[in-house]
Amino acid sequence: MLGTPRIHLETVASTNREARDRIRTGAPEGTLITAEHQTEGRGRFDRRWEDAAGQSLLASYILYPVRGAEEWGGLPLLAGLAVKRAAETFLNADVLLKWPNDVLVAGKKLCGILVESGRLGDRGWVVVGIGVNVRQREFTGSYRTPPTSLLLESGRPVDVDEVQSAVTRELSTLYGLWTDKGNAWLCPEWTRCAGMFPADIVLEDETGKRQLRAVDLGRDGSLIVENEHGERTSVFAGDVSILSANEENNA
Ligand code: BTN
Repeated sequence: MLGTPRIHLETVASTNREARDRIRTGAPEGTLITAEHQTEGRGRFDRRWEDAAGQSLLASYILYPVRGAEEWGGLPLLAGLAVKRAAETFLNADVLLKWPNDVLVAGKKLCGILVESGRLGDRGWVVVGIGVNVRQREFTGSYRTPPTSLLLESGRPVDVDEVQSAVTRELSTLYGLWTDKGNAWLCPEWTRCAGMFPADIVLEDETGKRQLRAVDLGRDGSLIVENEHGERTSVFAGDVSILSANEENNA
């Protein structure tokens, strides 16, 4: 079971960074670092992840996967699926997954996931960092995807620690299945649950922005996209925005 031991901190720079430090001092598989507040929370592509104290689940899980590193690309998908399942226990609304690891309710972002990995000696490690918006009534600042919280979507206060328990439970179950069956099981399961395909998208990566159609998930966790000529390619990194019918005409 993941989540044991659990180390809960009042304030920390970043739970992911704390987890990485604790890997160096021998933290066991399943260790969970949580915090009330992060002063230097980090997102994908080195973006900042801001939080107001006590409003979000800020959690990082330490894993030493026995599956080969070529399958670790599945872990961000696995984490998104765990958060979706956990969120659905608090909400009476559809929770969708947007590749690679955004969890959306009514097109708004409920959660961010940052998975980091490396090696220490002969052992590979992974830190799965999860930030879930739980109790926010409003958000200040500018966001690429508008944010939302469990409170805003359910209309009732939700306890951050209950969210932590639900996420830990779902992640433990899915990680156990992934350890046994790998991405050959995970990728079709993610596709079935995500509710993402097909979708007209804008993909932004180091080459710029392109409008494409997302059609499937590859067995390696990549996003399979189609251009206007019906040619398919696999995408391994980038930011995806899903276009609504109106935006398609204007993009
Ligand atoms: C993203 O959407 O860009 C990912 C955001 C990930 C934020 C979480 S909060 C807990 C953990 N600690 C961090 O510094 N980041 C992750």
